[in-house]
Amino acid sequence: MVDQHNNGKGKWKQLLAQVQKNELPRHIAVIMDGNGRWAKKRGLPRIAGHRSGMQSLKNMISFSHELGIQVITLFAFSTENWKRPRWEVDFLMRLPEEYLQKELPALIEKNTVIQAMGDLSQLPESTLAAVENAITETRHNTGMVLNFALNYGGRADILQAVRNLCREAKEGQLDCREIDEALFSRYLCSRDLPDPDLLIRPSGEFRISNFLLWQMAYTEFWFSQVLWPDFDREHLLQAILDYQNRERRFGGIKNT
Ligand code: IPE
Ligand code: IPE
Ligand code: MG
Repeated sequence: MVDQHNNGKGKWKQLLAQVQKNELPRHIAVIMDGNGRWAKKRGLPRIAGHRSGMQSLKNMISFSHELGIQVITLFAFSTENWKRPRWEVDFLMRLPEEYLQKELPALIEKNTVIQAMGDLSQLPESTLAAVENAITETRHNTGMVLNFALNYGGRADILQAVRNLCREAKEGQLDCREIDEALFSRYLCSRDLPDPDLLIRPSGEFRISNFLLWQMAYTEFWFSQVLWPDFDREHLLQAILDYQNRERRFGGIKNT
């Protein structure tokens, strides 16, 4: 049992002691949400929330690395986020570049593999260049995979897979009868990554906002009121502990 009453600084250590290291979620997906509300609560502009969210991201990555998580997918910008005011979109588009400029050397040092998924062709040139450079620089690494969802939408992902399959079928490279779940998965932006075991969504919203629709068929969901800039290792450990207390049946029945 997690001791809910111990709010002292050492609480994360107590939580860590309860984590079963051989039962960690292999792939954690995160919807980094609540930056705007975090800023509003403090009378700050929304971009201050995004900046602070970047610090949360750094902390989560470094702690996940220490824990031994294999894959993290981070929802950084959705296909629907273009609806936001121009100044906010511009700021969000610059963030990956800023993040990579500062963090890439440390990520390389830690043997991290950087990947990105989504329609990257719509990103500003300098953002795309920074992301592509990070992917190239880390492609031979063998450690934790950091997968950034940039201009990503679950429906758009499924549609681009369908279009590519149709094209290959039309060109005679593919027999439609060969299309099964495993093959279809390889046409999605997530390609060879395992499906997420755990989805973390902070900010008090109980929805997946067009994130990994196909890939999350059997993902365990963890929702919390905490706003992303306040998300810390205690929350991550709590999410992992909750995950470890779930019984994943995948449609079967409990093992007896
Ligand atoms: C998440 O925080 C960041 C992105 C969507 C890129 P929000 O900006 O959505 O923050 P809220 O939901 O308005 O608080
Ligand atoms: C989801 O958050 C997208 C990202 C975190 C990148 P949103 O803030 O866009 O989601 P909604 O609009 O509340 O569903
Ligand atoms: Mg939001």
